Amino acid sequence: MAAIFRRLLVTQGILSIVVSLASLISNSPISAQGIRRGRVPPKKLAAKSRSELAVKADEVFWQTFHNGEYQNIQRALNVLTAAYLQTPGDAKTAAHIGFMHNWRVAERNRLESVPATITDDIILSRRYFQEAVRLDPSDARYLGFLADSILLEGNLHKDDRLTQEGYLLLHNAIKAWPEFNLFSGGFVMSRLPSDAPWFREGLEWQWRSIDECNGEKIDRANPDLSKYMARETKEGNKRVCWNSWIAPHNFEGFFLNMGDMLVKAGDWRTAQKIYANAKLSHEYGTWKYQSVLEDRIRQAQSNVAVFNEKKETPKAGIMLNSEFACMACHRQ
Ligand code: HEC
Repeated sequence: MAAIFRRLLVTQGILSIVVSLASLISNSPISAQGIRRGRVPPKKLAAKSRSELAVKADEVFWQTFHNGEYQNIQRALNVLTAAYLQTPGDAKTAAHIGFMHNWRVAERNRLESVPATITDDIILSRRYFQEAVRLDPSDARYLGFLADSILLEGNLHKDDRLTQEGYLLLHNAIKAWPEFNLFSGGFVMSRLPSDAPWFREGLEWQWRSIDECNGEKIDRANPDLSKYMARETKEGNKRVCWNSWIAPHNFEGFFLNMGDMLVKAGDWRTAQKIYANAKLSHEYGTWKYQSVLEDRIRQAQSNVAVFNEKKETPKAGIMLNSEFACMACHRQ
C-alpha cells in the first residue's frame, strides 16, 4: 500500500513538473509565427525593466555568494532560474545563473568527492553567459566570463577550435575592459602547466593589470603598491582594481592569486613581495584568508614544487583550484 502511495506521489510529482513545463512552453514568446517557413524569426529582445522576482533572485544570489553558502547554490539557482523563465530578456539574471554554475565548478574541492558531471556546470555557465552577453553587450565583465567558460568548455570536449574561440574572445574582452579582464583571463590560465605559453601570458597579464590600474609601469623588481594606495576609487572602470561591495576583498585576492602564479613560475622571491601587497588593503583586518597568505609567504620556496605537481591535492594547490577560488575576493 505504502509503495503504491509512494509511486503515486512520484508520478504526481513528475506530472506536475510536466504540466508546468507544458505551460511554460505554451506561454513562451517563441510563437508559431516566428518560425514560419521562409521567415527569419524575430530577434530576442532585452527586458526593459526588472521583475519583482528578478530583484528577489538578486537578493538570494548575493546573500548566498557573499556568505560563502556553497551548499545553497542549488536553492539560489532555483530562484534565479524561475526568474529567468519568467523574464528571459533579463541579462543580469542570466549572468547570475552563469556565475552560480561557475562558482560550483571553481570551488568543487569543497565537495567530499567531485562527481564527473560537475563539468555540466561549465556548459550551463557558458550558455547563460552567452545569453547575458547577447542581451547586454556593454558589460565587458560578462564577456570576460563568457570567454573563460568557452576556454573551459573547449578543454572539456578537447575541442581545440572551441578553445581557440574562447582565447580570441578573451583578447576582445581584455581590450574592452583591461582592468577587469587581464585579471580574469590570467586567473583561468593559472591552472595550466607553468611552462605553457598561455600560463606565461596569463602571468604577464597580472603585471599588466597592475600597470593598467595605476596608469604607469610598476617596478617589477620591487613591486610595492604603497605609493598607489591613495588612488583608490569606487567609480568608473578603475573601481575593479579596488575593494567594493561586490568584491569586498578584491585587492587581497588579486595579490594572493598573483603570488601563487609567480611561485608556480618558480619566482618565489618576487612572489613574496607580491603577496605582501595584500596587507596594504584597508580591509585586510577583516579578510578571512590572512593565515593562508601568511603561510604562502613563509612557504613560498617549498611551494614551487607543490604548485607544480602534476596531480594537485585540493588542500595544497594554487588559488584557482582551492576552496576559496571565488571567496578570496567575494566573501564578506
Ligand atoms: C581577484 C578577485 C576576484 C576573484 C578571485 C573573483 N572575482 Fe568576481 N569580481 C571581482 C571584481 C573586482 C568584480 C567587479 C566589481 C565591480 O564591477 O565593481 C567582480 C564581479 C563579480 C560579480 C558581479 C556581477 C554583477 O552582477 O555585478 C560576480 C557575480 C562575480 N564576480 C563572481 C565571481 C565568481 C563566481 C568567481 C570565481 C570563479 C569570482 N567572481 C572570482 C573580483 C574577483
